[in-house]
Amino acid sequence: MSPEEFRASAHQVVDWIADYLRDIREYPVLPNVEPGHLIDSLPSSGPEQGEPMETILDDFKKLIVPGVTHWNHPRFFAYFSISASGPGILGEMLATALNVNHMLWKSSPAATELEQVTLGWFRQWLGLPDEFFGMIHDTASMASMHAILAARELASPETRLTGQHPPLILYISEHAHSSIEKGAMVVGIGRDNVRHVPADAEFRMRADALEQLIAQDLAAGKKPFCVAATLGTTSSTSVDPLSAIAEIATRHGVWLHVDAAYAGPAALLEEHRHILDSAARADSLVVNPHKWLFTPADLSILYTRRPDVMKRALAIETPAYLVTAQHERALNYSEYTLALGRRFRALKLWFVLRYFGREGIAQILRGHIRMAQNLAEEISKDPNFEIAAPHPFSLVCFRYRGSDDENRAILDRINSTGHAFISGTELDGRFVLRLTIGNVATTAEDVRSTWRLIRSSAPRATGSRV
Ligand SMILES: Cc1ncc(COP(=O)(O)O)c(C=O)c1O
Repeated sequence: MSPEEFRASAHQVVDWIADYLRDIREYPVLPNVEPGHLIDSLPSSGPEQGEPMETILDDFKKLIVPGVTHWNHPRFFAYFSISASGPGILGEMLATALNVNHMLWKSSPAATELEQVTLGWFRQWLGLPDEFFGMIHDTASMASMHAILAARELASPETRLTGQHPPLILYISEHAHSSIEKGAMVVGIGRDNVRHVPADAEFRMRADALEQLIAQDLAAGKKPFCVAATLGTTSSTSVDPLSAIAEIATRHGVWLHVDAAYAGPAALLEEHRHILDSAARADSLVVNPHKWLFTPADLSILYTRRPDVMKRALAIETPAYLVTAQHERALNYSEYTLALGRRFRALKLWFVLRYFGREGIAQILRGHIRMAQNLAEEISKDPNFEIAAPHPFSLVCFRYRGSDDENRAILDRINSTGHAFISGTELDGRFVLRLTIGNVATTAEDVRSTWRLIRSSAPRATGSRV
Protein backbone atom coordinates (compact mmCIF):
# COMPACT_ATOMS: atom_id res chain seq x y z
CA MET A 1 0.00 0.00 0.00
CA SER A 2 1.56 3.26 -1.08
CA PRO A 3 1.67 6.15 1.39
CA GLU A 4 -0.85 8.03 -0.76
CA GLU A 5 -3.27 5.13 -0.92
CA PHE A 6 -2.84 4.69 2.85
CA ARG A 7 -3.54 8.38 3.46
CA ALA A 8 -6.73 8.34 1.36
CA SER A 9 -8.08 5.16 2.98
CA ALA A 10 -7.08 6.29 6.47
CA HIS A 11 -9.04 9.51 6.03
CA GLN A 12 -12.08 7.47 5.06
CA VAL A 13 -11.62 5.24 8.09
CA VAL A 14 -11.22 8.16 10.48
CA ASP A 15 -14.31 9.83 9.00
CA TRP A 16 -16.22 6.61 9.51
CA ILE A 17 -15.05 6.34 13.13
CA ALA A 18 -15.97 9.96 13.88
CA ASP A 19 -19.45 9.47 12.36
CA TYR A 20 -19.83 6.18 14.21
CA LEU A 21 -19.05 7.77 17.57
CA ARG A 22 -21.36 10.72 16.79
CA ASP A 23 -24.26 8.54 15.60
CA ILE A 24 -23.77 5.63 17.96
CA ARG A 25 -27.27 5.95 19.46
CA GLU A 26 -28.79 5.19 16.04
CA TYR A 27 -27.33 1.67 16.13
CA PRO A 28 -29.16 -1.16 17.89
CA VAL A 29 -27.00 -2.08 20.88
CA LEU A 30 -27.42 -5.77 20.12
CA PRO A 31 -27.44 -6.89 16.48
CA ASN A 32 -30.48 -8.65 15.14
CA VAL A 33 -28.69 -11.61 13.59
CA GLU A 34 -28.77 -15.38 13.78
CA PRO A 35 -25.71 -17.54 14.50
CA GLY A 36 -23.80 -18.22 11.30
CA HIS A 37 -25.12 -15.11 9.54
CA LEU A 38 -21.64 -13.76 8.74
CA ILE A 39 -20.03 -17.11 7.96
CA ASP A 40 -22.80 -17.70 5.39
CA SER A 41 -22.36 -14.29 3.79
CA LEU A 42 -18.59 -14.46 3.31
CA PRO A 43 -16.75 -16.59 0.72
CA SER A 44 -15.61 -19.95 2.03
CA SER A 45 -12.04 -19.35 0.83
CA GLY A 46 -9.80 -16.29 0.76
CA PRO A 47 -9.16 -14.22 -2.39
CA GLU A 48 -6.43 -15.31 -4.78
CA GLN A 49 -5.90 -11.73 -5.94
CA GLY A 50 -5.74 -8.68 -3.72
CA GLU A 51 -8.85 -6.52 -3.57
CA PRO A 52 -9.23 -2.71 -3.57
CA MET A 53 -9.51 -1.06 -0.15
CA GLU A 54 -12.80 0.53 -1.25
CA THR A 55 -14.39 -2.90 -1.60
CA ILE A 56 -13.02 -4.10 1.72
CA LEU A 57 -14.29 -0.99 3.53
CA ASP A 58 -17.69 -1.34 1.85
CA ASP A 59 -17.96 -4.91 3.04
CA PHE A 60 -16.92 -3.82 6.53
CA LYS A 61 -19.91 -1.45 6.61
CA LYS A 62 -22.35 -3.81 4.84
CA LEU A 63 -21.43 -7.14 6.38
CA ILE A 64 -19.45 -6.66 9.56
CA VAL A 65 -21.06 -3.69 11.31
CA PRO A 66 -24.62 -5.14 11.27
CA GLY A 67 -23.35 -8.12 13.26
CA VAL A 68 -21.53 -6.07 15.89
CA THR A 69 -22.66 -5.73 19.50
CA HIS A 70 -21.92 -2.09 20.21
CA TRP A 71 -19.90 -2.05 23.41
CA ASN A 72 -19.32 1.64 22.67
CA HIS A 73 -23.06 2.36 22.84
CA PRO A 74 -24.07 4.62 25.75
CA ARG A 75 -26.95 2.23 26.51
CA PHE A 76 -24.73 -0.82 26.70
CA PHE A 77 -25.46 -1.59 30.34
CA ALA A 78 -24.55 -5.30 30.39
CA TYR A 79 -21.65 -7.15 32.08
CA PHE A 80 -19.31 -4.28 32.94
CA SER A 81 -20.00 -1.57 30.41
CA ILE A 82 -16.97 0.09 28.91
CA SER A 83 -16.02 2.71 26.37
CA ALA A 84 -13.23 3.31 23.93
CA SER A 85 -12.94 7.06 24.38
CA GLY A 86 -11.61 9.33 21.61
CA PRO A 87 -8.14 9.75 23.11
CA GLY A 88 -7.91 6.02 23.78
CA ILE A 89 -8.80 5.21 20.17
CA LEU A 90 -6.19 7.68 18.90
CA GLY A 91 -3.52 6.18 21.15
CA GLU A 92 -4.43 2.70 19.92
CA MET A 93 -4.23 3.83 16.29
CA LEU A 94 -0.74 5.22 16.78
CA ALA A 95 0.41 2.14 18.72
CA THR A 96 -0.78 -0.02 15.83
CA ALA A 97 1.01 2.19 13.33
CA LEU A 98 4.27 2.00 15.28
CA ASN A 99 3.81 -1.77 15.71
CA VAL A 100 6.63 -2.09 18.21
CA ASN A 101 7.25 -5.15 20.32
CA HIS A 102 8.78 -4.03 23.58
CA MET A 103 9.75 -7.40 24.94
CA LEU A 104 13.07 -5.79 25.88
CA TRP A 105 14.02 -2.20 26.69
CA LYS A 106 16.19 -2.25 23.58
CA SER A 107 13.37 -3.47 21.35
CA SER A 108 11.50 -0.23 22.16
CA PRO A 109 12.86 2.06 24.87
CA ALA A 110 9.96 4.54 24.65
CA ALA A 111 7.29 1.84 24.99
CA THR A 112 9.08 0.34 28.00
CA GLU A 113 9.59 3.63 29.77
CA LEU A 114 6.12 4.98 29.00
CA GLU A 115 4.65 1.87 30.63
CA GLN A 116 6.73 2.59 33.75
CA VAL A 117 5.77 6.26 33.81
CA THR A 118 2.05 5.78 33.09
CA LEU A 119 1.64 2.99 35.63
CA GLY A 120 3.54 5.14 38.13
CA TRP A 121 1.09 8.03 37.66
CA PHE A 122 -1.88 5.75 37.99
CA ARG A 123 -0.42 4.06 41.08
CA GLN A 124 -0.10 7.47 42.74
CA TRP A 125 -3.68 8.35 41.83
CA LEU A 126 -4.88 5.14 43.44
CA GLY A 127 -2.81 5.87 46.55
CA LEU A 128 -0.81 2.63 46.24
CA PRO A 129 2.70 2.41 47.69
CA ASP A 130 5.67 3.49 45.59
CA GLU A 131 7.27 0.06 45.77
CA PHE A 132 4.38 -1.44 43.77
CA PHE A 133 5.87 -2.45 40.43
CA GLY A 134 3.40 -2.25 37.55
CA MET A 135 3.14 -4.20 34.33
CA ILE A 136 0.52 -4.29 31.63
CA HIS A 137 -1.24 -7.49 30.60
CA ASP A 138 -3.96 -7.96 28.04
CA THR A 139 -6.63 -9.03 30.54
CA ALA A 140 -7.23 -9.40 34.25
CA SER A 141 -7.39 -13.15 33.66
CA MET A 142 -3.76 -13.17 32.53
CA ALA A 143 -2.73 -10.72 35.24
CA SER A 144 -4.28 -12.86 37.97
CA MET A 145 -2.74 -16.01 36.52
CA HIS A 146 0.67 -14.35 36.83
CA ALA A 147 -0.11 -13.38 40.44
CA ILE A 148 -1.00 -17.00 41.24
CA LEU A 149 2.18 -18.16 39.53
CA ALA A 150 4.27 -15.81 41.68
CA ALA A 151 2.41 -16.98 44.78
CA ARG A 152 3.24 -20.58 43.85
CA GLU A 153 6.88 -19.61 43.31
CA LEU A 154 7.07 -18.09 46.77
CA ALA A 155 5.41 -21.07 48.44
CA SER A 156 7.15 -23.78 46.47
CA PRO A 157 10.19 -22.56 44.52
CA GLU A 158 11.21 -26.08 43.49
CA THR A 159 8.04 -26.46 41.40
CA ARG A 160 9.52 -24.35 38.63
CA LEU A 161 12.19 -27.02 38.12
CA THR A 162 10.41 -30.22 39.03
CA GLY A 163 6.77 -29.52 38.26
CA GLN A 164 6.01 -31.09 41.66
CA HIS A 165 4.53 -29.27 44.61
CA PRO A 166 2.89 -29.96 47.96
CA PRO A 167 -0.93 -29.69 48.10
CA LEU A 168 -1.16 -25.93 47.66
CA ILE A 169 -4.51 -24.34 48.47
CA LEU A 170 -5.95 -21.10 47.07
CA TYR A 171 -8.90 -19.23 48.62
CA ILE A 172 -11.47 -17.07 46.88
CA SER A 173 -14.96 -16.00 47.79
CA GLU A 174 -17.88 -17.79 46.22
CA HIS A 175 -18.42 -14.54 44.26
CA ALA A 176 -14.89 -14.24 42.86
CA HIS A 177 -14.46 -14.06 39.12
CA SER A 178 -13.97 -17.36 37.31
CA SER A 179 -10.58 -16.16 36.01
CA ILE A 180 -8.96 -16.86 39.39
CA GLU A 181 -10.05 -20.48 39.32
CA LYS A 182 -8.90 -20.80 35.71
CA GLY A 183 -5.55 -19.21 36.60
CA ALA A 184 -5.12 -21.72 39.42
CA MET A 185 -5.79 -24.56 36.99
CA VAL A 186 -3.27 -23.24 34.46
CA VAL A 187 -0.61 -22.83 37.14
CA GLY A 188 -1.10 -26.47 38.12
CA ILE A 189 -2.87 -25.96 41.44
CA GLY A 190 -5.90 -27.97 40.43
CA ARG A 191 -9.55 -26.99 40.78
CA ASP A 192 -9.97 -29.29 43.76
CA ASN A 193 -7.47 -27.12 45.63
CA VAL A 194 -9.43 -23.91 45.15
CA ARG A 195 -11.61 -23.19 48.19
CA HIS A 196 -14.73 -21.10 47.72
CA VAL A 197 -15.12 -19.16 50.93
CA PRO A 198 -18.79 -18.48 51.81
CA ALA A 199 -20.00 -14.90 51.55
CA ASP A 200 -22.11 -12.87 53.97
CA ALA A 201 -25.58 -11.47 53.27
CA GLU A 202 -24.02 -8.65 51.25
CA PHE A 203 -21.98 -11.05 49.06
CA ARG A 204 -18.62 -10.28 50.72
CA MET A 205 -16.10 -12.96 51.63
CA ARG A 206 -16.53 -13.99 55.26
CA ALA A 207 -13.17 -13.53 56.95
CA ASP A 208 -14.15 -15.93 59.77
CA ALA A 209 -14.97 -18.62 57.21
CA LEU A 210 -11.62 -18.00 55.48
CA GLU A 211 -9.84 -18.45 58.78
CA GLN A 212 -11.75 -21.66 59.44
CA LEU A 213 -10.99 -23.14 56.02
CA ILE A 214 -7.30 -22.32 56.37
CA ALA A 215 -7.24 -24.01 59.79
CA GLN A 216 -8.93 -27.12 58.34
CA ASP A 217 -6.45 -27.30 55.48
CA LEU A 218 -3.48 -26.87 57.78
CA ALA A 219 -4.81 -29.62 60.04
CA ALA A 220 -5.10 -31.87 56.98
CA GLY A 221 -1.44 -31.25 56.09
CA LYS A 222 -2.18 -28.96 53.15
CA LYS A 223 -0.38 -25.74 52.36
CA PRO A 224 -2.44 -22.56 52.04
CA PHE A 225 -0.49 -20.34 49.62
CA CYS A 226 -2.76 -17.66 48.16
CA VAL A 227 -5.93 -15.77 48.92
CA ALA A 228 -7.61 -13.58 46.34
CA ALA A 229 -9.92 -10.83 47.58
CA THR A 230 -12.23 -9.01 45.22
CA LEU A 231 -13.00 -5.31 45.31
CA GLY A 232 -16.07 -5.06 43.10
CA THR A 233 -17.28 -8.60 42.39
CA THR A 234 -18.63 -9.35 38.95
CA SER A 235 -22.19 -10.18 39.94
CA SER A 236 -22.90 -7.38 42.41
CA THR A 237 -19.71 -5.24 42.92
CA SER A 238 -19.51 -6.32 46.55
CA VAL A 239 -16.26 -5.47 48.30
CA ASP A 240 -14.49 -8.16 50.30
CA PRO A 241 -13.22 -7.04 53.75
CA LEU A 242 -9.65 -6.44 52.67
CA SER A 243 -8.29 -5.39 56.03
CA ALA A 244 -9.45 -8.58 57.80
CA ILE A 245 -8.33 -10.74 54.88
CA ALA A 246 -4.91 -9.06 54.78
CA GLU A 247 -4.55 -9.72 58.48
CA ILE A 248 -5.24 -13.44 57.98
CA ALA A 249 -2.98 -13.63 54.90
CA THR A 250 -0.10 -12.04 56.81
CA ARG A 251 -0.56 -14.27 59.81
CA HIS A 252 -0.44 -17.41 57.67
CA GLY A 253 2.23 -16.14 55.29
CA VAL A 254 0.08 -16.55 52.18
CA TRP A 255 0.17 -14.36 49.09
CA LEU A 256 -2.62 -11.79 49.00
CA HIS A 257 -3.91 -11.00 45.52
CA VAL A 258 -6.51 -8.27 45.08
CA ASP A 259 -8.87 -8.37 42.11
CA ALA A 260 -9.95 -4.75 41.63
CA ALA A 261 -10.43 -5.25 37.89
CA TYR A 262 -13.68 -3.27 37.81
CA ALA A 263 -13.85 -1.13 40.95
CA GLY A 264 -10.18 -0.14 41.26
CA PRO A 265 -10.58 3.21 39.47
CA ALA A 266 -13.22 4.25 42.04
CA ALA A 267 -10.33 4.71 44.48
CA LEU A 268 -9.49 7.87 42.54
CA LEU A 269 -12.50 9.41 44.26
CA GLU A 270 -11.98 10.72 47.76
CA GLU A 271 -15.24 9.13 48.90
CA HIS A 272 -14.22 5.67 47.63
CA ARG A 273 -10.50 5.79 48.36
CA HIS A 274 -11.07 3.60 51.44
CA ILE A 275 -11.63 0.51 49.26
CA LEU A 276 -7.84 0.38 48.76
CA ASP A 277 -7.03 1.24 52.39
CA SER A 278 -5.42 -2.13 53.04
CA ALA A 279 -4.21 -2.71 49.50
CA ALA A 280 -0.74 -1.63 50.56
CA ARG A 281 -0.55 -5.01 52.33
CA ALA A 282 -1.32 -6.95 49.16
CA ASP A 283 1.33 -8.83 47.25
CA SER A 284 -0.41 -8.10 43.97
CA LEU A 285 -3.38 -6.17 42.67
CA VAL A 286 -5.09 -6.11 39.29
CA VAL A 287 -7.09 -3.22 37.85
CA ASN A 288 -8.51 -2.97 34.33
CA PRO A 289 -8.46 0.40 32.57
CA HIS A 290 -10.32 -1.36 29.75
CA LYS A 291 -13.28 -1.74 32.09
CA TRP A 292 -14.00 1.54 33.89
CA LEU A 293 -11.36 3.90 32.59
CA PHE A 294 -12.38 4.63 28.98
CA THR A 295 -9.40 2.78 27.54
CA PRO A 296 -10.00 0.56 24.49
CA ALA A 297 -9.63 -3.16 25.08
CA ASP A 298 -7.36 -4.61 25.97
CA LEU A 299 -5.35 -3.25 28.90
CA SER A 300 -5.09 -4.66 32.38
CA ILE A 301 -2.56 -3.55 35.00
CA LEU A 302 -0.92 -5.87 37.49
CA TYR A 303 0.87 -4.22 40.39
CA THR A 304 3.07 -6.28 42.66
CA ARG A 305 5.32 -5.58 45.61
CA ARG A 306 7.24 -8.77 44.73
CA PRO A 307 8.56 -8.27 41.19
CA ASP A 308 11.61 -10.30 42.18
CA VAL A 309 9.39 -13.33 42.84
CA MET A 310 7.44 -12.79 39.61
CA LYS A 311 10.71 -12.70 37.70
CA ARG A 312 12.05 -15.77 39.45
CA ALA A 313 8.85 -17.66 38.66
CA LEU A 314 9.55 -17.19 34.97
CA ALA A 315 13.32 -17.41 35.10
CA ILE A 316 14.99 -19.37 32.35
CA GLU A 317 18.41 -19.40 30.88
CA THR A 318 18.14 -16.40 28.56
CA PRO A 319 18.41 -17.64 24.98
CA ALA A 320 21.26 -16.06 23.03
CA TYR A 321 18.87 -14.23 20.71
CA LEU A 322 17.40 -12.26 23.65
CA VAL A 323 20.62 -11.28 25.39
CA THR A 324 21.12 -7.51 25.52
CA ALA A 325 23.53 -5.26 27.36
CA GLN A 326 22.50 -4.77 31.00
CA HIS A 327 21.81 -1.33 32.39
CA GLU A 328 20.21 -0.66 35.75
CA ARG A 329 17.58 1.61 34.18
CA ALA A 330 16.85 -0.64 31.21
CA LEU A 331 13.86 -2.79 32.18
CA ASN A 332 13.08 -5.91 30.16
CA TYR A 333 9.37 -6.42 30.81
CA SER A 334 9.25 -9.84 29.17
CA GLU A 335 11.23 -11.20 32.12
CA TYR A 336 8.07 -10.68 34.19
CA THR A 337 5.52 -12.13 31.81
CA LEU A 338 4.75 -15.41 30.11
CA ALA A 339 4.32 -13.70 26.75
CA LEU A 340 7.54 -12.58 25.14
CA GLY A 341 5.97 -10.13 22.70
CA ARG A 342 4.36 -6.99 24.13
CA ARG A 343 2.15 -4.49 22.33
CA PHE A 344 2.58 -0.77 23.03
CA ARG A 345 -0.53 -0.67 25.22
CA ALA A 346 0.71 2.09 27.51
CA LEU A 347 0.33 4.65 24.73
CA LYS A 348 -3.48 4.62 24.77
CA LEU A 349 -3.54 4.75 28.57
CA TRP A 350 -1.15 7.71 28.53
CA PHE A 351 -3.46 9.46 26.06
CA VAL A 352 -6.49 8.79 28.28
CA LEU A 353 -4.81 9.89 31.52
CA ARG A 354 -3.49 13.08 29.94
CA TYR A 355 -6.62 13.99 27.98
CA PHE A 356 -9.03 13.69 30.90
CA GLY A 357 -6.65 14.30 33.79
CA ARG A 358 -7.33 12.94 37.25
CA GLU A 359 -10.10 15.43 37.93
CA GLY A 360 -11.78 14.81 34.58
CA ILE A 361 -11.77 11.07 35.18
CA ALA A 362 -13.08 11.52 38.71
CA GLN A 363 -15.91 13.68 37.41
CA ILE A 364 -17.00 11.04 34.88
CA LEU A 365 -16.81 8.21 37.43
CA ARG A 366 -18.83 10.27 39.90
CA GLY A 367 -21.40 10.90 37.18
CA HIS A 368 -21.71 7.15 36.55
CA ILE A 369 -22.09 6.42 40.25
CA ARG A 370 -24.69 9.20 40.62
CA MET A 371 -26.75 7.87 37.69
CA ALA A 372 -26.65 4.36 39.18
CA GLN A 373 -27.71 5.66 42.61
CA ASN A 374 -30.59 7.62 41.05
CA LEU A 375 -31.70 4.54 39.19
CA ALA A 376 -31.58 2.49 42.40
CA GLU A 377 -33.79 5.10 44.05
CA GLU A 378 -36.34 4.89 41.23
CA ILE A 379 -36.32 1.10 41.39
CA SER A 380 -36.92 1.05 45.13
CA LYS A 381 -39.91 3.37 44.70
CA ASP A 382 -41.58 0.94 42.29
CA PRO A 383 -43.68 -1.68 44.12
CA ASN A 384 -43.20 -4.18 41.28
CA PHE A 385 -39.39 -4.21 41.61
CA GLU A 386 -36.84 -4.70 44.35
CA ILE A 387 -33.15 -3.96 44.77
CA ALA A 388 -31.21 -7.23 44.96
CA ALA A 389 -27.84 -6.13 46.37
CA PRO A 390 -26.01 -3.15 47.82
CA HIS A 391 -24.84 -0.87 44.99
CA PRO A 392 -21.77 1.09 46.04
CA PHE A 393 -20.56 1.91 42.51
CA SER A 394 -22.14 2.08 39.07
CA LEU A 395 -23.90 -1.29 38.99
CA VAL A 396 -27.44 -1.91 40.17
CA CYS A 397 -28.77 -5.45 40.67
CA PHE A 398 -32.55 -5.62 40.89
CA ARG A 399 -35.44 -7.86 40.09
CA TYR A 400 -39.07 -7.84 39.21
CA ARG A 401 -41.09 -9.17 42.13
CA GLY A 402 -42.02 -12.30 40.25
CA SER A 403 -40.51 -15.56 39.10
CA ASP A 404 -37.05 -16.07 37.65
CA ASP A 405 -38.68 -16.87 34.32
CA GLU A 406 -40.54 -13.56 34.37
CA ASN A 407 -37.27 -11.73 35.04
CA ARG A 408 -35.55 -13.63 32.23
CA ALA A 409 -38.42 -12.70 29.93
CA ILE A 410 -38.00 -9.01 30.84
CA LEU A 411 -34.29 -9.25 30.06
CA ASP A 412 -34.97 -10.83 26.66
CA ARG A 413 -37.64 -8.25 25.87
CA ILE A 414 -35.34 -5.30 26.67
CA ASN A 415 -32.43 -6.72 24.75
CA SER A 416 -34.50 -7.60 21.68
CA THR A 417 -35.53 -3.94 21.26
CA GLY A 418 -31.97 -2.83 20.44
CA HIS A 419 -32.58 0.20 22.68
CA ALA A 420 -30.42 -1.05 25.54
CA PHE A 421 -28.48 -4.11 26.60
CA ILE A 422 -28.63 -5.30 30.20
CA SER A 423 -27.49 -8.61 31.65
CA GLY A 424 -28.46 -10.97 34.44
CA THR A 425 -26.86 -13.01 37.18
CA GLU A 426 -27.81 -15.15 40.14
CA LEU A 427 -27.76 -13.87 43.71
CA ASP A 428 -29.04 -15.87 46.68
CA GLY A 429 -30.22 -18.52 44.26
CA ARG A 430 -32.48 -16.10 42.38
CA PHE A 431 -32.12 -14.65 38.90
CA VAL A 432 -31.57 -10.89 39.00
CA LEU A 433 -31.15 -8.15 36.43
CA ARG A 434 -27.92 -6.14 36.25
CA LEU A 435 -27.54 -2.64 34.85
CA THR A 436 -24.05 -1.15 34.88
CA ILE A 437 -22.90 2.26 33.73
CA GLY A 438 -19.36 2.74 32.42
CA ASN A 439 -19.52 4.57 29.12
CA VAL A 440 -18.21 8.14 28.78
CA ALA A 441 -21.21 9.16 26.69
CA THR A 442 -24.01 7.74 28.87
CA THR A 443 -26.48 10.39 30.00
CA ALA A 444 -29.13 10.45 32.70
CA GLU A 445 -31.74 10.24 29.94
CA ASP A 446 -30.14 7.02 28.59
CA VAL A 447 -30.64 5.46 32.01
CA ARG A 448 -34.14 6.91 32.47
CA SER A 449 -35.39 5.71 29.08
CA THR A 450 -34.03 2.24 29.79
CA TRP A 451 -35.74 2.16 33.18
CA ARG A 452 -39.02 3.21 31.52
CA LEU A 453 -38.56 0.37 29.05
CA ILE A 454 -37.86 -2.13 31.84
CA ARG A 455 -40.96 -1.07 33.79
CA SER A 456 -43.17 -1.25 30.76
CA SER A 457 -41.78 -4.69 29.85
CA ALA A 458 -42.79 -6.22 33.17
CA PRO A 459 -45.91 -8.43 33.35
CA ARG A 460 -47.56 -5.89 35.72
CA ALA A 461 -46.40 -3.00 33.64
CA THR A 462 -46.11 0.48 35.09
CA GLY A 463 -44.99 3.46 33.07
CA SER A 464 -44.97 3.92 29.34
CA ARG A 465 -42.90 2.52 26.55
CA VAL A 466 -39.90 4.53 25.36
C1 LIG B 1 -13.92 -8.81 39.08
C2 LIG B 1 -13.41 -9.30 37.76
N1 LIG B 1 -12.19 -9.83 37.69
C3 LIG B 1 -11.67 -10.28 36.53
C4 LIG B 1 -12.40 -10.21 35.35
C5 LIG B 1 -11.79 -10.72 34.09
O1 LIG B 1 -11.43 -9.65 33.28
P1 LIG B 1 -10.71 -9.86 31.87
O2 LIG B 1 -11.81 -9.96 30.87
O3 LIG B 1 -9.88 -8.63 31.69
O4 LIG B 1 -9.91 -11.10 31.93
C6 LIG B 1 -13.68 -9.65 35.38
C7 LIG B 1 -14.47 -9.55 34.15
O5 LIG B 1 -15.55 -9.02 34.11
C8 LIG B 1 -14.19 -9.19 36.61
O6 LIG B 1 -15.42 -8.69 36.70
